Formats: sequence, C-alpha cells, structure tokens
Amino acid sequence: MKCLLMNKNMPVVELELDDDTATILKVLKTYELDFLPVGIDAKSGIPNKKELNEWWFGRSIPASRSGIRTALEKLNIQHSEQLLLKCYGLSLSDQYWMKPMDSELEWININFFDNNFSDDVGNILFGQPASQDIDLMSPCNTSDGWLKKKWKIIDGKRCLIKAGSNPFMQEPINEVFGTRLHQRLGCKNYVSYNVLLEDGIPYSVCENFIDTNTELVNAVSINRSIKKRSQYSSYEHFMNACEKLGIPGMKEFIDYMLVFDYLMANTDRHFGNFGAIRNVQTLEWIGPAPVFDSGTSLWHDKLTRAINPLGEIETKPFYSNASRQMELVSDFSWVPFEELRNLKDDIREIFAPTEFIDEERIEVLSKAVTSRVEELQEMVLEQKKQFTLGSLQ
Ligand SMILES: Nc1ncnc2c1ncn2[C@@H]1O[C@H](COP(=O)(O)OP(=O)(O)OP(=O)(O)O)[C@@H](O)[C@H]1O
Ligand SMILES: [Mg+2]
Repeated sequence: MKCLLMNKNMPVVELELDDDTATILKVLKTYELDFLPVGIDAKSGIPNKKELNEWWFGRSIPASRSGIRTALEKLNIQHSEQLLLKCYGLSLSDQYWMKPMDSELEWININFFDNNFSDDVGNILFGQPASQDIDLMSPCNTSDGWLKKKWKIIDGKRCLIKAGSNPFMQEPINEVFGTRLHQRLGCKNYVSYNVLLEDGIPYSVCENFIDTNTELVNAVSINRSIKKRSQYSSYEHFMNACEKLGIPGMKEFIDYMLVFDYLMANTDRHFGNFGAIRNVQTLEWIGPAPVFDSGTSLWHDKLTRAINPLGEIETKPFYSNASRQMELVSDFSWVPFEELRNLKDDIREIFAPTEFIDEERIEVLSKAVTSRVEELQEMVLEQKKQFTLGSLQ
C-alpha cells in the first residue's frame, strides 16, 4: 500500500509499505524532509530506507514487553508490528502518522490527544477481558518499554499507567519516591507520578508531558543525528549532537539527572529514558524532556538482605559504574543537602501502604538512601578539595 508519512499536518515522504508486514519497501517521493524524525539521514535528498524501517518498527510494542505473547494471541495477531497500521502509527509521544494515499483522513480527526480512544488494547495488555468487537485504534499500539503499561483517559487527561515487577512491585512506588526527591531537590522539570492500587496491586500513573504541538525526541535519536567519531566519549558525542541540533540547557539537565539517578540508585537510565522536546510546527527545540521513568531503582529486584547501599551499582547511559559516571557532573553547587535530611521519613510514608514491601525492607531502604546522600556529600567535598588544590598549583 502507498502511504504518506505525516508529521501532524505536514507530508514528509511518500512510501510503499508491505500490506502484511507493514515493512517500508520503497521511498516513492519526498516532501518536507526537515520534518523527518530526528536521526534519519536524508543527506542525499532521499531518506535512508533502513533507518526509516528501524524508526517505524521501533514504534511498535517491543517483543520484551511483559505479557505481550498472551496479549497478541488474544488479539489474534502474530507480531506487534502488525498493530502499527491499525492506529495509523499514531502515538501520544509525538505527531507522526501514516496516511494511506487513498484516504481523506485528517490529523485533527484521528489524533489521540484530541480524540477519544478505545481501552480494548490497554485492557488486553493488562490481562483484563476486552469487549467482543475489539477496537484496535489505541495509542497503546505504539508504546515503548518492557513493563506492562497502558494509556488511559482519566478526567479528560491522557495518562500512562505502568505496572511493577515481581516480587516487590516496587517500580511504581519508586516513581512516587522519585517525585518527592525531585521536589526536595528543587527540580522544575520532572514528571509527577502517583500510585493507584487495583486489587491491591500498585500501578504508577503520570500525565502526558507532550501536547499537540510537541514531540519527545529520545537520546537514541539525538545520538543518531550526527556520526560518532571514535575520539569522543558517549557523553561528548551526545553533548555535541545536542549542540549541533541547538537543544538548549542539556548540560545542566544531565548534571541534575546524574545526581538524581545516583541518589535513586537507578540502574536503567538508558538513552531511551531521556531526551528533548521539539515543537513539531516550528521545529524549534524547547529543551530537555522532564525526567521520567525512574522506577528501575532502589534495588527493586534485589532481596532485602542483598541490598548493599554503597556497593557499585550498574549504571547507564554514559558509563557502567556510578563513580565513573558521576565524574561527568560539572557542578554540584546547586544540591540542597539540607533538604535531603529527612528522606528516610519520605521513604516510610511512601512505601508503608504497600503490602509487597515489609517493615524490614522499608528500614533497609531508608538507611540505604541516607547513606547515598552522605556518599554524595563526600563526593562533593572531594571535588571541592581537588578544585582548590588545582587552583593552588
Ligand atoms: N508522561 C509521558 N508522556 C509522554 N510520553 C511518555 C511519558 N512517559 C513515558 N512516555 C513514553 O513511553 C515510553 C515508555 O515509558 P517508560 O519509559 O516509562 O516505560 P518502561 O517500560 O519503564 O521503559 P523501559 O523499557 O525503559 O524500562 C517512554 O520511552 C516514552 O517514549
Ligand atoms: Mg523507559
């Protein structure tokens, strides 16, 4: 089938897609290449087909998503890629979509920001029963990440509901603690998470931070926008790409995110878990996206007795250990240590209502977070000492 890849109301390229697999077979015609997804090379005047396919299939639910096999069986669909065209590739994180050439469809009438959508796919992804006539028009078809999740309209707002993982179901509660930590740190750019209990199981709920004029561009796409040269570290490469694209405020943002992740003992800040926001009409960069997806932290998958607060934890995205990664933070002067004195009370208040986390675990987590604050304070003192020594020499 022939389709126009659209960015909101702007035609970008005309494509030939395979009817059965939704694979992009051919680029037929180009329109406004500036409006292509960030990171797709079109230097020769024709967008790279392989990169287009990677981007397009990257919109589908990953095969690693918890419970995806059972859900696809219920939907009577073989591969999650086949769900893409059922919602014209529309998502709630950007404004791209595939318009069949023989259709009169308009973005205004089909986008998920302004128009209602069915709960069927979301419910099936959560293992809940769905209606007889399953409606596949859903932004859940284009949601990323491995945790069970669904988009739902709550009080008119588009909200992402995310589950946790066994045995502690800790990720949703971690998101709520992360929200409190952002507040204590005086952060202005974060996603606020609440917890919702359904049959005693905790889920995190957050509002969409994208609207009809914006898109989330993750760091994977930002990294792809320029060629990586071997003399640059992955941090330098990312910063160079941000500078070339003209994204403001990224250095301060990364300083903040690394400190926040250090305190959270976050093990999963991969390049898909942060990025920047761009205006889809003017193509102007607004700045770093608010900090989101911080639940894979606080030893969520470790038994209580295996929690070692100051042991090296695996880190992402720039270096695989925290001490090395923290050397990238250029400025700690903003960290309000006096605001971090009572985090143990926050832990108790936030974790206590959950039946999956017992008293002993709460106690260990409180002590662990307190130790990380102290360790961070020592790191800051050490850096000051080095700086003073350096300036005396
Ligand atoms: N509040 C939001 N507004 C808009 N888009 C969002 C929001 N939260 C998440 N997303 C998008 O949904 C994707 C999946 O969400 P999230 O990263 O929270 O899930 P996850 O399953 O924890 O991911 P991972 O595989 O990284 O663990 C994100 O990468 C981002 O593109
Ligand atoms: Mg994620």
